[in-house]
Amino acid sequence: MMQQQEKLLLVALCIMASTLTTLALGEQTLAAAAAQQSPAKLEQNPCVNKGTCHACIQTQNCGWCMKPDYGDRSRCFLHTPKADICPEEYIWNPDTSERILINKDLTLASGGAAWAGGQYASGVGYESSAHGQSSASGSYSASSSSSSYGSSSSSGSSSGYSASSSSGGYGAAVSGAAAAGEIVQIKPQRVSLKLRINEVHNLDVSYSQAVDYPVDLYYLMDLSKSMEDDKEKLSALGDKLSETMKRITSNFRLGFGSFVDKVLMPYVSTIPKKLEHPCDNCKAPYGYRNHMPLSNNTESFSNEVKEAAVSGNLDAPEGGFDAIMQAIACRQQIGWREKARRLLVFSTDAGFHYAGDGKLGGVITPNDGECHLNAQGMYTHSIIQDYPSISQINQKVKQNAINIIFAVTQNQYAVYQKLSAHIEGSSSAILSNDSSNVVDLVREEYGKISSTVEMKDNATGDVKVTYLSSCLTNGPQIKTNKCSGLKVGDKVTFTAQITVTKCPTDPRHWNQAIQIYPVGINESMIIDLEMLCSCPCEHAGSTGYELHSQKCHNHGTYMCGICECDEQHFGNTCECSTSDMHLNNGNDNMCRPSNDTSVAECNGRGSCVCGACECHKRTNPDEIISGKYCECENFSCERRKNLLCSGPDHGTCECNRCVCKPGWTGNSCDCQTSKDTCMPPGGGEICSGHGTCECGVCKCKTMDEGRYSGKYCDKCPTCSGRCHDLKDCVQCQMYQTGQLKNGDDCAKNCTTFTAISVDTVKIDEHKDEQLCVFFDEDDCKFTFKYSEVGELVVYAQQEKECPPKVFMLGIVLGVIAAIVLVGLAILLLWKLLTTIHDRREFARFEKERMNAKWDTGENPIYKQATSTFKNPIYAGK
Ligand SMILES: *[C@@H]1O[C@H](CO)[C@@H](O)[C@H](O)[C@H]1NC(C)=O
Ligand SMILES: *[C@@H]1O[C@H](CO)[C@@H](O)[C@H](O)[C@H]1NC(C)=O
Ligand SMILES: *[C@@H]1O[C@H](CO)[C@@H](O)[C@H](O)[C@H]1NC(C)=O
Ligand SMILES: *[C@@H]1O[C@H](CO)[C@@H](O)[C@H](O)[C@H]1NC(C)=O
Ligand SMILES: *[C@@H]1O[C@H](CO)[C@@H](O)[C@H](O)[C@H]1NC(C)=O
Ligand SMILES: *[C@@H]1O[C@H](CO)[C@@H](O)[C@H](O)[C@H]1NC(C)=O
Ligand SMILES: *[C@@H]1O[C@H](CO)[C@@H](O)[C@H](O)[C@H]1NC(C)=O
Repeated sequence: MMQQQEKLLLVALCIMASTLTTLALGEQTLAAAAAQQSPAKLEQNPCVNKGTCHACIQTQNCGWCMKPDYGDRSRCFLHTPKADICPEEYIWNPDTSERILINKDLTLASGGAAWAGGQYASGVGYESSAHGQSSASGSYSASSSSSSYGSSSSSGSSSGYSASSSSGGYGAAVSGAAAAGEIVQIKPQRVSLKLRINEVHNLDVSYSQAVDYPVDLYYLMDLSKSMEDDKEKLSALGDKLSETMKRITSNFRLGFGSFVDKVLMPYVSTIPKKLEHPCDNCKAPYGYRNHMPLSNNTESFSNEVKEAAVSGNLDAPEGGFDAIMQAIACRQQIGWREKARRLLVFSTDAGFHYAGDGKLGGVITPNDGECHLNAQGMYTHSIIQDYPSISQINQKVKQNAINIIFAVTQNQYAVYQKLSAHIEGSSSAILSNDSSNVVDLVREEYGKISSTVEMKDNATGDVKVTYLSSCLTNGPQIKTNKCSGLKVGDKVTFTAQITVTKCPTDPRHWNQAIQIYPVGINESMIIDLEMLCSCPCEHAGSTGYELHSQKCHNHGTYMCGICECDEQHFGNTCECSTSDMHLNNGNDNMCRPSNDTSVAECNGRGSCVCGACECHKRTNPDEIISGKYCECENFSCERRKNLLCSGPDHGTCECNRCVCKPGWTGNSCDCQTSKDTCMPPGGGEICSGHGTCECGVCKCKTMDEGRYSGKYCDKCPTCSGRCHDLKDCVQCQMYQTGQLKNGDDCAKNCTTFTAISVDTVKIDEHKDEQLCVFFDEDDCKFTFKYSEVGELVVYAQQEKECPPKVFMLGIVLGVIAAIVLVGLAILLLWKLLTTIHDRREFARFEKERMNAKWDTGENPIYKQATSTFKNPIYAGK
């Protein structure tokens, strides 16, 4: 048993090994086949059917050979051809290539990790370690070529620091750096990329948040009546707000604006009195006003807020969108800096009007997204233009890298949370109803914004960018464009996977600038993308480029080794003219005998060239394919003894059919036309009138009287004809039976012949004799034959063959006797069985009787059938 198992295992191993070798061999042969471009492999090769250089290189892994005199082979090949097929200088197979144009180092790329937004928030971590500071400035000086930095970082900045704050000179030192040099938070900054279609290119982008990055905060406030207490609180908290922010960054600027709504019914009451004083202690309503542009003079913020007057309006939603649009669009007036984190805090306790709501007040002109502020900072187009739409705001926010913080009261929070999902880089937070938590709110939201980086791009259409990053972990990269939990100085790297799915139809779009940017920061990496959609050899001026080239019959441009024909010509060398086509209806069925496209062009035996069939050549020069659609062959006619049309003596093969020489006929010219061979030697009709002469041979027919056979259809063994006529005479002559047996009928009626008696009747084939067989009334068989060549001669069997006589009575009596005997036997058997049975029964009875004990007890239920009765009056004797 054990041995058997081992054997089985061995066999299995052997089978596996042999399968593996065959597989390996198969692969080798496949590779060899691919190298030879075997026809079977061609179907899987996507390159071979690409007829032009640009179509070829727009296909993955394909390269083009522009060698002249290349023959009929496909110029577009997979990978690289062997050098002997196409020399190197003729190959055009560009590779995706990347070149970094601007690659400034990140400000604070390494080090300074201790400096964290969160630590700032707690107010503890500000006094950062000396190590952090030195390494930070060290890296900065290493990366920057600016000479002004060194000087500004030394004494000047440290004095600035000691004057402004008691908490470490670190921030101030870097602020000097920031002011003097340029802060770099994304690297590289510009890349030139040449990209093949459908090839994925990985590009690494690093991001790191710089220390002391400038922050612009514009506070946009709803100043309707319900916000009066908020305004007071904000003015009280103004100093605290700026102080908190200055702890985060020394490079901080603050601005303030307010809004009510469009001064139109139904947004505000337009009763003249109400227009001036909509409510107690209220000022006239207005759309939006920029009270205080962004400035480092943060002390004035509180005053501005205090001085701003509340106003009143009618409906619940406010015109906040107008204000947001203006605050973003008016870059100059608001004073947004180019390189700064831009925060727009939008505080309200009500909903918002958006595009379309203006119709209620009769304003239908759509918002143009432009700045319309007058010298006093008032929005001038409030009652001229509709509110902006959410997507208009989103677009402006993206263009200007602004982070909107919706600071709204609890009851509005859900709405603004949904809104912030549609505006890039925005967030929402709950403001207490008197704005007392505004400082914490801003600090927390800023922390959230600055600790998160999200990569976006403006790639459109056929360019696809996806991002991978492992963020701050050391793990593998996952598909994400967002990392959170970043601290200042942390460096995260994103891998942007860039793919062009297809070449845009418009060649102007083959070169594009694509921007990859962190959301909310006006810094980006620009990719100068060049899609490799065309070949240089396709452009005038390159070698081999010839207009109206002779190689193209003067009807086309010779480029990249092939002809590009003009409108009127086509074909590999522009040898075909469309005017030839027009003669023939101009449809592309010219190479088919009918419109039926299921028929192959030129019947599959030729190629369609300029609308006419060019039939294939055979290796044997004697074999010719011809015809307009190559429908004729002179080698595929019927053969006889492997001779085409029975040989050249009999006929020739023309267009798939034998054409016979005179004297011959038939599909393969194997039949003589003459009918001499069908004539019986003795003369008479062709085939004795019982058949047709085909191909020099009699084909006998089956007639009513029977089937004729024989070389001349002169024999008919089954034909009743003559045999019947002769039967009666033979019968009476030979056996004295039959219809003519009486008297001298026989002698009278049978005069034509006298049967000659023979022992047995045998047919002699050569003598043309007929055999006749009959049964007479006694069921006796008699046979005779006759021959009619010349005189009628009849030979008959001497004795008829009769079946032996049957003794009928004997059979009947025998059957009866048998039935009787069988009956008797059954009766006897029955009698015997019953006798035995009875004997057995009797014996048993006897035995039981012997065993039985005979009692003379009285039967208790027996009553005497008689009763004695005494008659009382009988006296007796
Ligand atoms: C504000 O900025 C101006 C220049 O823009 C500068 O001269 C001034 O010193 C700054 N003030 C403070 C308090 O930083
Ligand atoms: C972003 O910075 C560039 C200079 O680096 C500047 O030209 C551009 O105007 C800035 N964009 C915004 C919206 O400030
Ligand atoms: C603000 O909210 C508190 C409790 O949440 C409430 O007591 C107070 O009346 C509210 N103030 C206003 C002006 O709504
Ligand atoms: C992407 O943004 C850059 C810079 O703003 C611009 O030059 C380029 O045309 C944009 N590309 C697309 C495809 O919009
Ligand atoms: C072939 O096409 C032509 C034009 O399209 C049409 O007139 C003709 O009837 C078609 N012939 C057949 C056999 O379908
Ligand atoms: C076919 O036709 C060609 C030219 O007519 C002739 O030379 C050749 O012998 C023919 N072949 C046969 C097999 O008849
Ligand atoms: C025999 O011949 C006679 C006269 O030739 C004819 O009448 C008769 O019917 C014939 N008999 C038979 C049985 O054919």
